[in-house]
Amino acid sequence: MDWEAAIRAELDPMVPYAPGLRASEVRERSGRDTILKLSSNEHACGPFPGAVAAMEAVLTRLNRYPDGAARALRRALCEHLDVADETLVIGNGSNEIIRLLTQAVVRPGDEIVFAWPSFVVYPMVAQMFGATAVRVPLTADETHDLPAILAAITERTRIVFLCNPNNPTGTIYRRVDFEQFMAEVPDHVIVVADEAYFEFVTADEYPDALDCFDGQRPLAVLRTFSKIYSLAGVRIGYGVMPAPLARAVDKIREPFNVNIVAQVGAYYSLGDEAEVERRRRENQEQKTYLYSAFDRLGIAYVPSETNFVYVRTERPVEVFEALLGEGVIVRDFGTAPALRVGIGTPEDTRATVAAFEAICTRLGGV
Ligand SMILES: Cc1ncc(COP(=O)(O)O)c(C=O)c1O
Repeated sequence: MDWEAAIRAELDPMVPYAPGLRASEVRERSGRDTILKLSSNEHACGPFPGAVAAMEAVLTRLNRYPDGAARALRRALCEHLDVADETLVIGNGSNEIIRLLTQAVVRPGDEIVFAWPSFVVYPMVAQMFGATAVRVPLTADETHDLPAILAAITERTRIVFLCNPNNPTGTIYRRVDFEQFMAEVPDHVIVVADEAYFEFVTADEYPDALDCFDGQRPLAVLRTFSKIYSLAGVRIGYGVMPAPLARAVDKIREPFNVNIVAQVGAYYSLGDEAEVERRRRENQEQKTYLYSAFDRLGIAYVPSETNFVYVRTERPVEVFEALLGEGVIVRDFGTAPALRVGIGTPEDTRATVAAFEAICTRLGGV
């Protein structure tokens, strides 16, 4: 077989998604027993108690396919979000919805516009479907430059991904700026507001993109159960979008894309607003504590609306390695002068601060 001829040429420049280091690998490398994994923006605690019990209860039924239409969860989500059934898509993580949306509308030679740095999956799906990825640099304070994104739109633009809050910088754009953007964005462009960290946000000026959703204008809003709901391991996310687009995505998804454990876990997590609020508050407290330690240590960071903090450093590789030596796994980006540090439990935060203190002493700063 001539594999070069067989495999689509668009895939040549792509590299497989590189997951962060696993705790077991670092345990071996560092010789430490306790490893803190702060590299994938997961929640440090397990799923909501009601969800764990319900997921355990379905394990004996795994011989059956899941409900391919996820009916019970759909009803609950529609009620929770106050949206019509035909506008809701549930996916194997919101990642799957990003891919399916793109597959549904992008033709080779089209353009996809997004801020940069932002979520690494946007350039991946552009390449996957033969589109040109148009990266619009973040502003100096690491936020979306919405006017520059508007200016980057052409006749060939099919999708604009807006990541709010932005991964990896943790920053948000404000409601007034989003409303202005939505008023000016041309009608041939689908705006995808990726709100994976929605539940962590505390800023008043944060726009809930669903407020702009009317089922008519080309806006899709994506959320996930992977973050505050702690269901990353079972893969489940959702999107709200105009009915014709939701129907197109429904046609090309796998028939049983959302497994039964995920459906049940999500169903029994929804509605526990007290637990969401408790987690949001605890996350906020841990960030405040981490900021004060960073201030004391002279470490520059970008204030975040998420469960991670973008830490500026001119020597990311050295600092990344030094943190690994302390048993702390953060995310490095290869090229950016920064590292992304996840927020965990109060105990995790104390250990994070201790690790930064140790490396500041050793390296003379970060
Ligand atoms: C901005 C953003 N969007 C989407 C996702 C994908 O989440 P999921 O686990 O639902 O696929 C992530 C995961 O890290 C993310 O950071």
